[in-house]
Amino acid sequence: MPADFFSDISNQQTPPQYRYFDGSTWKPGSSGKTADVISPIDGSVVGTTPILTQEEIDGVMAAASAAQSAWELTPLNKRVGVVHLAADWIRHYLDYLVALLVREVGKSAEEAKSEIIRTADLIDYFADEVQSIQGMTLDSDNFPGFEKGRIAMIERVAYGTVLAIAPFNYPVNLTASKIAPALLMGNSVVVKPPTQGGISALHLVRIFQKAGVPAGVISTVTGNGEIIGDYVVSHPAVSMVAFTGNSDTGVAIAGKAAMKPLLFECGGNNPVVVMPDADLQVAAREIIKGAFAYSGQRCTGIKYVLTTPAIREQLVSLVLKTIPDMVHPGDPRSPETKLVGPVISEAAARKIEEAIQTSVKNGAKCVVGGKRDKAMIEPTVLTGVIPSMPIIAKETFGPVVSFVDVASFDEAVAIINRSSYGLQASVFTKDEGSGLVFGKKLNVGTVQINGSPQRGPDHFPFLGVKRSGVGVQGVRYSLEAMSRLRPIVLNKPQ
Ligand code: G3H
Repeated sequence: MPADFFSDISNQQTPPQYRYFDGSTWKPGSSGKTADVISPIDGSVVGTTPILTQEEIDGVMAAASAAQSAWELTPLNKRVGVVHLAADWIRHYLDYLVALLVREVGKSAEEAKSEIIRTADLIDYFADEVQSIQGMTLDSDNFPGFEKGRIAMIERVAYGTVLAIAPFNYPVNLTASKIAPALLMGNSVVVKPPTQGGISALHLVRIFQKAGVPAGVISTVTGNGEIIGDYVVSHPAVSMVAFTGNSDTGVAIAGKAAMKPLLFECGGNNPVVVMPDADLQVAAREIIKGAFAYSGQRCTGIKYVLTTPAIREQLVSLVLKTIPDMVHPGDPRSPETKLVGPVISEAAARKIEEAIQTSVKNGAKCVVGGKRDKAMIEPTVLTGVIPSMPIIAKETFGPVVSFVDVASFDEAVAIINRSSYGLQASVFTKDEGSGLVFGKKLNVGTVQINGSPQRGPDHFPFLGVKRSGVGVQGVRYSLEAMSRLRPIVLNKPQ
């Protein structure tokens, strides 16, 4: 029963007061200060999470450091078994976790189900892939001036304690994508959940605990980023920071984390370029899906489309014709709702509304949508947008797509490469060869040809350049990123 399995993590009142996990026990915070988690659907309080004191954070960090080396020495086959069991528990509690995600972050049941199943599959994939991560040896005499006689034995070892900071939009999946590789490579992991989405993330940590992660090896620190963020990222016990969230926060964390290794997935504005020979039906459907899925609250969401005025005219009319078929804004609990529900909070919706209004004031045309009702933003299409407008110059985390006219495709390249973001870009063309040639000109993490930007499949490398990220994720890449090389050199006595 979910109620029994998860009973320790809250006081089970209505609304529940959730606890933090110090590595051994689920505890209420000692300060009594808590953060409310508000449902974007109806403004109700889903629960509260404790705001930890610095002393409590120190306790969590000390427990993580103390437990790490025994965990790293635990045979890999045992660590793999624990992690696979966590994936099984996630599948077992699918319906319960889906209902929680819908209420806590306003995903539709379909999107929430996809997040949970994807998470269990991802965890299993990590646990399988880690078994092929091996060390190597190198001989000395390959390098000029060296004789035979020295051998470097190079192992992959844990960093120590990984701080895992996850965002609200995939609070289960993007927490698991950090926990699983960190644990499998022998690290302890301290999870800093988002405030919104934090309850789902605490459930995930409970699952890892129940699957057999030993005391101290997994734990949580809760509290608003503004209050505890600097303290946790600069904490001397943290050996590495894995973060997903917006670029401004990423830059601030990187500053505070000083010399710690970083694995960051940050914001993106993800342009789409539509060539004259593109299948416009395909492009229109991919643009709608890419821009409006989960109400545009994906770092890989499409934010703008670059094409010539003649193509734009046909494309926009196709997009407008197709929106009613693919998008049905509404309450995410309703099976009729498709792609667009409320954004994460009314405050976030106000900012999106303001960005739309600023664009229109500066000459853009709102061809559909543009209005707000509480946390709901209508699916919005803007034309006549110019790249310096904040709606695309900054990441707008909402259901808005902007069309930018270009005189040539070289101009599109220049606009994309001038952006401060560089997560993904898409090119639509029937000629895959010219798509490849064009794609190589773009300074972004990944270029998609004839498909919308996306992270998955999750074993593909996933990375951003410029303000969009640091390091590379994706199953094998994350395992490598959460470990370091340790060469030990055998020297032959002279
Ligand atoms: O929001 C950031 C996520 O990594 C995007 O993942 O492309 O699967 O939606 P997604």
